[in-house]
Amino acid sequence: METLVNQTIIIVGGSSGIGLGIARAALDSGANIVITARSADKLQAAQRSLNGGDRVKAIAADMTAEADIARLFEEVGAFDHLVSTAGTLPPGDPIGQTDMAGMRAFVDNKLIGAIILAKYAVQGLRPGGSITFTSGINKDKPPVPGGSVVSAIAGSFSYFARALALELAPTRVNVVSPGWVDTPMWDILGDAKAGYFADMAARLPARKIPTAADVAAAYIYLMQSNVTTGETLRVDGGHNLI
Ligand SMILES: NC(=O)c1ccc[n+]([C@@H]2O[C@H](COP(=O)([O-])OP(=O)(O)OC[C@H]3O[C@@H](n4cnc5c(N)ncnc54)[C@H](OP(=O)(O)O)[C@@H]3O)[C@@H](O)[C@H]2O)c1
Repeated sequence: METLVNQTIIIVGGSSGIGLGIARAALDSGANIVITARSADKLQAAQRSLNGGDRVKAIAADMTAEADIARLFEEVGAFDHLVSTAGTLPPGDPIGQTDMAGMRAFVDNKLIGAIILAKYAVQGLRPGGSITFTSGINKDKPPVPGGSVVSAIAGSFSYFARALALELAPTRVNVVSPGWVDTPMWDILGDAKAGYFADMAARLPARKIPTAADVAAAYIYLMQSNVTTGETLRVDGGHNLI
């Protein structure tokens, strides 16, 4: 396993949820980090909460905007690992009622954004580095009806990573596939969240809804393992099995 001490890690989506959990774990592992997301305010709050001094840099950028991402990588220069957890809540309409503008925005924000990141990342990635994307349980357990496109997009990351792992070798390219994770993405449920989580935790083989810290450990592993590439690592409490 490689050390992350003094390595530079870019975390797209690092202002919240799983990305913020990875930022904390990476700092604890001795890395210097760059957190990126669209909202500068949220980034500043995250930077303060991480309390890592000059080991934490925050750069606002929208991964769907090519100019933003070109600027991000130019500003960072050479780096060792790129992680992306950026994403928004998926649309859930049955296929016959798909709002195409909303669906295009979702695909842009998840898949096209990842392609733009990969395009610009290659220029600054140091030898021995890695890229880790984020997919999710929707590819294994699509919500029915309304989950077909979300499932397709989440599933596509595994094949994107396998092909990129060959194209960019020896840079390693992997995917983490979380199940439900207790993050601000679930705040829309309000008071109902506790009940949903208790029901799901009782059904999961691991009997626990993972925290961002639980899931962050998988990203740290994929950055450190110098022989794991083209892999999709499920960290879902066994959700895909039930
Ligand atoms: N939480 C779960 O249960 C769960 C389960 C399976 C899969 N996932 C996937 O895991 C990923 C992270 O989820 P999370 O729960 O950590 O979500 P979260 O707490 O809402 O965090 C999402 C992060 O992505 C950033 N972001 C969104 N769109 C962006 C863009 N276009 N460019 C740059 N940054 C962007 C957000 O900041 P800004 O809004 O300021 O840009 C925020 O920092 C998502 O892709 C989600 O689909 C989550």
